[in-house]
Amino acid sequence: MAKKIILAYSGGLDTSVSVRWLKEKGFSVVCFLADVGQGQDFQVAKKRAHKAGAAKVIVGNLKKEFVEDFIWPSLKANAVYESKYLLATALSRPLIAKKLVEVAHTEGAKLVAHGSTGKGNDQVRFEVSIGALDSKLKVIAPVREWDLPTREAEIRYAKVHKIPIDVTKKKPYSLDKNLWGISIESGKLEDPWFEPKEDVFQITKPIEKSPNKACYLKIYFKKGVPKKLNGKTLNAIALIKKLNEIGGRYSIGRSDLIEDRLVGIKSREVYEAPAAKILLEAHKALESLVLDRETLYFKDIVSLRYSRLIYDGLWYTPLKEALDKFVEHTQRNVEGVVNVKLLKGTASAVGRKSPNSLYKEELATYGKGDKFDQSLAKGFIELWGLPYRKKR
Ligand code: ARG
Repeated sequence: MAKKIILAYSGGLDTSVSVRWLKEKGFSVVCFLADVGQGQDFQVAKKRAHKAGAAKVIVGNLKKEFVEDFIWPSLKANAVYESKYLLATALSRPLIAKKLVEVAHTEGAKLVAHGSTGKGNDQVRFEVSIGALDSKLKVIAPVREWDLPTREAEIRYAKVHKIPIDVTKKKPYSLDKNLWGISIESGKLEDPWFEPKEDVFQITKPIEKSPNKACYLKIYFKKGVPKKLNGKTLNAIALIKKLNEIGGRYSIGRSDLIEDRLVGIKSREVYEAPAAKILLEAHKALESLVLDRETLYFKDIVSLRYSRLIYDGLWYTPLKEALDKFVEHTQRNVEGVVNVKLLKGTASAVGRKSPNSLYKEELATYGKGDKFDQSLAKGFIELWGLPYRKKR
């Protein structure tokens, strides 16, 4: 009997060719299609997998788990990689890895596979996560092994094996999409000087075509998690979808960067993440109101480390667990409303309020009712500057 292998299947060229390639190698291929909010036609993908030679196709709706167990922890930590990447792709990988392991267990398989190349971060994220969850599973990465050096060679392979692939229009970029954003790379973007044209962007309008009138969003958070939009309670998925839609219209959340991959190369990446950007701005604005200075400063350090850890595929690690405990503890008082103004590509917090606010108007005011005792400042400054006073 053919050995069973569970393949993380996306419906694209690489993974469709992988199905066939694995089958040719004598495996019985079970495809796992993860729904992380990419808005794909799963019926089409399922059919394609079968045509390519899959013995079975499983579609997993992972959206809720993705938001609750991956996106929200990342938001609470204000995770951003290299100042510009809100980690949409990176966050989905450990979840997909977890599901691959679960499916391998229920299907009684000892092998799993993914369609990532040998040059990217995703292979690392998949394999480190799989190993951390079940080190007995063996991973195969067909793209790293096969003798199909170019996209054209893959297309030829697909044609020969009658795998239905959309080859009529040349795919200009490589896309990876989920609820938290879209990653766009390759093609013309490989030239760092090339300005991304509008055909690059998938969910955001050009700034020039975004409304001239601002839009205000009131976002209510509890324990660091957004719960209401403009007074209306929304479930997590609906809230993110709504913010992607509104933010997209206002051209929010685009970024263009030269990014440092784990495998040592720099790459040109373009991202769109309207909801993520809006929520990050709002969350940070609320934290600045309710957290004390030292916690805020320390949390910034943790945030940097946490972002690296997501990027580097170290989700299932003791450090991640420990940092989660810290971050979680800081979120106890992160409750309140932030007023976010969207206009021409920017999302800015213009108002914030909280029952746990540490802001004291009677101390901050320069107007009536000032309770700040300015006479205390003199002694404070004397001691603060004492070590640095120079004798003349
Ligand atoms: N550079 C980003 C990352 O490492 C995006 C990767 C996009 N992946 C893809 N298969 N197109 O997270």
